[in-house]
Amino acid sequence: MAKIVKIKDIADYAGQVVRVRGWVYSRTGKGRLQFILLRDGSGQAQCVAFKREMDPAEFETARALTQESSVIITGAVRADERAPGIPGGYEIGIQSLELVQQALEYPISPKEHGTEFLMNNRHLWLRSNRQWAILRIRATIIKAMRDWLDSEGFLLVDTPIFTPAAGEETTTLFEVDYFGEAAFLAQTGQLYNEANSMAFGKVYCFGPTFRAEKSKTRRHLIEFWMLEPEIAFCSLEELMDIEEGLVTYVVGQVLDKHQQELKMIERDVQKLEAIQAPFARISYDDAVARLQGLRQQADDLPAREEIAIEWGEDFGSPQETALAEMFDRPVFVYHYPTAVKAFYMTPVAGRPEVCRSVDLLAPEGYGEIIGGSERIHDHDLLAKNIDEMGLGREAYEWYLDLRKYGTVPHAGFGIGIERTVAWICGLNHVRETIPYARLLNRKYP
Ligand code: 4AD
Ligand code: MG
Repeated sequence: MAKIVKIKDIADYAGQVVRVRGWVYSRTGKGRLQFILLRDGSGQAQCVAFKREMDPAEFETARALTQESSVIITGAVRADERAPGIPGGYEIGIQSLELVQQALEYPISPKEHGTEFLMNNRHLWLRSNRQWAILRIRATIIKAMRDWLDSEGFLLVDTPIFTPAAGEETTTLFEVDYFGEAAFLAQTGQLYNEANSMAFGKVYCFGPTFRAEKSKTRRHLIEFWMLEPEIAFCSLEELMDIEEGLVTYVVGQVLDKHQQELKMIERDVQKLEAIQAPFARISYDDAVARLQGLRQQADDLPAREEIAIEWGEDFGSPQETALAEMFDRPVFVYHYPTAVKAFYMTPVAGRPEVCRSVDLLAPEGYGEIIGGSERIHDHDLLAKNIDEMGLGREAYEWYLDLRKYGTVPHAGFGIGIERTVAWICGLNHVRETIPYARLLNRKYP
């Protein structure tokens, strides 16, 4: 019996008979000649059924194949540069065909569907070309991040999902019943990461994080994946160097490995090729001044109102977009007002109204993809913040311990996977960047 091969590898078998197993992406043809575009998860190949060359019953089966029917095909691989497929250029002349299942009417046809319909059918939508391309790029982005950190001497240390205390804003906590006690789903792994960094030096965690965020924007998910490095003895400037190294490596890997997928999703690769170090580093003060200047130049009123900002306010997405548009690569904005950032961020010496924080804003309107900071390493100051925020000291005793037993300056950041995928793939909403998006109004399928 012929060897089972993956469609992505069929070029290696030109002139040979192979077996491929998969699903019918489409079928066209007339009478005695049928073209079946078969996908197997690794790629797609045109399989040609010619009546004269097949068992009559099997040919009839081929002729009746519906979209997404599952089949096993045996046939000869031949080069044909016109043959469609992924990657294409080779087709299979069918010798025999075994039906695994004839699919019932498949709901997603090649015609246009609304997004809600597609999201309701996400479990099937994943099979379509565009989603296939995006999720393959997502996998590479995650692998590239981990490869880069591993090669830089970071250790992966996992952090818990059930936690006794808030890691970020208490307003976005998901409370769950933990055997009669309240627990919260992790908003971040950071606090544990800080402990881990005191044990291992340079660490990162990677996992799902949860925010009960009542935001219905194209950048917000309720459940999203975050990769968070944390480094002992690290300054904000060193942190930016690490972020820059990580992001440029990730974009480079996507460009190296996914030209085919980037083409399938019609991504402008020139924009990605421009992502080279160094990235501009501007202070929040400077960013506000730039926005105010831009606002004076803007002639239409709605545009002016949108980017209005007073010193002390946090940026919304219009401000982030306007700032990012001033650069052709990501831009760091550092020293945000202490009041708009988290309780653990170090105040700037001599100027406590701003803190040692840095956000990385992606180009093309994708906004903040990374948030990071130097962490307060002074015990009393941190304890004071925890008290003032009303967070409750008991749940943070262990976190305060880190400031008692050999405290050191340290810093870290979190990069949101879905926002990074949306930016690199050029998608207008994060919902397509994750296999099963959890949104304010969606937890199905
Ligand atoms: O800025 P954030 O909230 O930072 C933290 O959680 C820190 N504890 C990270 C750290 O320093 N270890 O979130 C970091 C990133 C954001 O820049 C964004 O990319 C992503 O996580 N993010 C979200 N992505 C999708 N949906 C949401 N609701 C997100 N909230 C944050
Ligand atoms: Mg942030």
